[in-house]
Amino acid sequence: MAIGGWLGLLAASALGAVLLPWGARNGVFSPAAAMGGAEQDRERDRLETVLSSTLEGVIALDEEGRVSLMNQAAQRLLSVSPEVTLGRLLGEALGSQTLVDLARQAVATGSLLTMELKEPGKVLEVHAAPLKAGQGAVLLVQDLTEVRRLESVRRDFVANVSHELKTPLTSIRAYLETLLEGGALSDAEHNVRFLTKIEAHVHRLSTLITDLLSLSRIEAGDAFNQRLRCNLNELVMASYQRLGPSAEQKNLALRIQLAEEPLHAVGDTEAFNQIFDNLIDNAIKYTEPGGSVDVTVKREEKRVRVDVADTGVGIPAEDLPRIFERFYRVDKARSRELGGTGLGLSIVKHLVQALDAEIHVESKVGAGSTFTVAFAEA
Ligand SMILES: Nc1ncnc2c1ncn2[C@@H]1O[C@H](COP(=O)(O)OP(=O)(O)O)[C@@H](O)[C@H]1O
Ligand SMILES: [Mg+2]
Repeated sequence: MAIGGWLGLLAASALGAVLLPWGARNGVFSPAAAMGGAEQDRERDRLETVLSSTLEGVIALDEEGRVSLMNQAAQRLLSVSPEVTLGRLLGEALGSQTLVDLARQAVATGSLLTMELKEPGKVLEVHAAPLKAGQGAVLLVQDLTEVRRLESVRRDFVANVSHELKTPLTSIRAYLETLLEGGALSDAEHNVRFLTKIEAHVHRLSTLITDLLSLSRIEAGDAFNQRLRCNLNELVMASYQRLGPSAEQKNLALRIQLAEEPLHAVGDTEAFNQIFDNLIDNAIKYTEPGGSVDVTVKREEKRVRVDVADTGVGIPAEDLPRIFERFYRVDKARSRELGGTGLGLSIVKHLVQALDAEIHVESKVGAGSTFTVAFAEA
């Protein structure tokens, strides 16, 4: 419920009548005046149900700063147990005066006040509002931890994208300046070489933007919504054929072993293509000439399992949990040199999730890596 909603409920004129007996019923708080009546019972039950089922913390304080109500969410967010809290001074129960001061100030100024509370591993937002004259204050506690975490992920992402776009642009600019102002344009020995470099950087920018668009469409959930029964033998074969030339160019043995019977999974053809292309492309990129890449399709229990195993550089154990993150690369320079964007595996991860499949990787530095994707057989 929004803060406004809570305040509407809690600061309603019935509040005094509802909150005080609530405490009394729990045997902790003695109300100044016991109020009865079926109407109030109903109101109290309604409030109690709402309070116990909400994710927002609600604490009511009397005019002395004693806790007359604290719902489960507040206990959880502030890490206090109900036995030690009800009827006690909030400052004592929490071992800190911060929230009491906020409540006092709200009562003194008659206004709604807000503060952010940073605890280890947690960020909370607390709103304090005065109750009707002389009845204390109410505190609303919201967990902002996840919101703040996502904000920081987004900030990092924007910073990363800007950096990735800027690097090739800076090079392009430098080459252009040399050509135009440094007189290299008429220098037959250098001009083609510089233009070729520019072309490579433009290509890089365009790949990066294609990957970014692809990632954002997949994340938005509207990229691939075809639900076709696809023959994975065929799709893996097609991907193998697309990447054959780059394996050959690098003098790598790219081999394929398909299942004898047709194996199907439900999904979008283009999504399957992107998964297999990315995994085989990585295997080729991160394997030295002379090495090999083996692609296997087989049935395993009720699943279709596709393995892409290489004899390449491998991935250090400490990097393994992070390689599916956007822009994460074990060796940035090497990835860039090979035309990588650092987005391939995060695209793969999102697609695998969208297809309800699973992916895992085993790797040993210097020996090679095996990426395994398992799809439900259809
Ligand atoms: N088969 C592999 N062998 C070794 N390292 C790999 C392999 N596949 C992925 N990686 C590591 O994971 C990183 C992220 O992969 P990816 O998202 O596809 O980005 P990139 O554009 O760099 O290929 C790569 O930069 C590389 O460090
Ligand atoms: Mg890649």
